[in-house]
Amino acid sequence: MFTKNHIKLEAINSTNDYVLNLKGSLVFKEGLVVTANYQSVGNGQRGKVWESNANENLLLSVVIEPNIKLDEQSVISKIVALTVCDLLKSFGIEAKIKWPNDILVAKQKIAGILIQNKLQGNYISHSVIGLGFNVNQLVFKDYLLNATSLRLLLNNEYEVFQIQVQFLSLLSIRLKRLKVGENQDNEYLNSLFLKNEPAAFEINNKQFMGIIKGVSKNGKLLIQLEDDSIAAFENQQIKYLF
Ligand code: BTN
Repeated sequence: MFTKNHIKLEAINSTNDYVLNLKGSLVFKEGLVVTANYQSVGNGQRGKVWESNANENLLLSVVIEPNIKLDEQSVISKIVALTVCDLLKSFGIEAKIKWPNDILVAKQKIAGILIQNKLQGNYISHSVIGLGFNVNQLVFKDYLLNATSLRLLLNNEYEVFQIQVQFLSLLSIRLKRLKVGENQDNEYLNSLFLKNEPAAFEINNKQFMGIIKGVSKNGKLLIQLEDDSIAAFENQQIKYLF
């Protein structure tokens, strides 16, 4: 599915922005893959810049046509996060998904996902799936979360293109499963970082303890509070303290 339409860029501001600028053109369709060796301002979540040294990591955007309702959009982020876990598992690494879709290994971030949707009425006609996966980078600037890479974890250098091929082949398997209606929520829950463990969170500068219980159908994080009630939180609203 992702083998026929590949645009390889040496350097670009952001592969996601590049793809979004193709909206309306003939190439903007399911299967389009855009990669870059370097991004000058890679888009991260919450308006942050995604850091990546030139030529060391996988920087990729792919287009899919999920044709699902807007309120089901979290399924896309779930299957992409699970695909990155599948990829790491193929290297013998157990990863966790920090809701909604940061990929952590031993509490360090190895990959980030940014999904931007094109809507048609109430439906998502196209999703641009952006993935930054740290392959060979050894030193990272300070982040809230410490970063890691495949090379730091396994003490080996890897061909970035091979990682790309492997990711895309695993993604098409998960997508096919999604398109035939298979629910992958349980797998997502089994990989959820801090699930069923007491943990500290922050909202509007207020800190509190809670236990992650799961994710609601519309993608909100469900946390059991100290009075045993369950509250649902949006992505932008809540910060993990760990
Ligand atoms: C995050 O902040 O965790 C999400 C990072 C997503 C970065 C990737 S790199 C390739 C693609 N192009 C972008 O501009 N962002 C995504």
